[in-house]
Amino acid sequence: MTDQKAYWDAAYTTKGDNVSWYQSGPSRSLEMICAAATLHDVGIIDIGAGASRLADELLIRKFSDLTLLDVSEVALATTRSRLGEASGKITWIAADITEWKPSRKYEIWHDRAVFHFLTNSTVQDAYIEALKLATEPGATIILSTFALKGPEKCSGLPVQRYSAETLAARLGPDFAMYAKSVEQHPTPFGTTQEFIYAGFKRR
Ligand SMILES: C[S@@+](CC[C@H](N)C(=O)[O-])C[C@H]1O[C@@H](n2cnc3c(N)ncnc32)[C@H](O)[C@@H]1O
Repeated sequence: MTDQKAYWDAAYTTKGDNVSWYQSGPSRSLEMICAAATLHDVGIIDIGAGASRLADELLIRKFSDLTLLDVSEVALATTRSRLGEASGKITWIAADITEWKPSRKYEIWHDRAVFHFLTNSTVQDAYIEALKLATEPGATIILSTFALKGPEKCSGLPVQRYSAETLAARLGPDFAMYAKSVEQHPTPFGTTQEFIYAGFKRR
């Protein structure tokens, strides 16, 4: 965990919100989570939550069982401080997803721009193992990565790019894709990055 933690802590310490993946409103993620959530108390986990405003928006919409996981404690502290008192409603986990052992199940697993950093099959398998341990059949998995035409690097690190279909193939037969879309993400630097979003149901 040390290398990843140091890298990402430094990124958040030096850049704050001035990062390519910044979104003032995570609208596509929110739309997909709200469409999948049958009740306000469903367990939702955001993997590699960073300093995303997704948690703020989910709290506004009265979701009551939110967990944010990130390898960077600086990122989590940023979100915690922004949320103030409301941060007490959230479960915080500082962990590397490829080493994390979940202790409960979640109905909704969300990940924007984290899985694509895992560029070898060993760490991808470890992520998928955590995903399987943290979900049960019927759970919703919402993943967003750089598209095949997206950038080759994110935050200076190489990424594995996907189409919805290649992502589905990598996750394997335990996950049935029910939704897919492409998003042109406008970065704070005036450029555009192509992302894919895919929704899966755990079989
Ligand atoms: C590109 S940022 C995306 C942040 C957030 N999901 C968003 O959409 O704004 C990637 C995030 O994943 C976290 N991260 C990277 N590798 C990780 C790992 N192995 N385990 C957990 N978090 C990780 C980073 O700290 C960072 O917050």
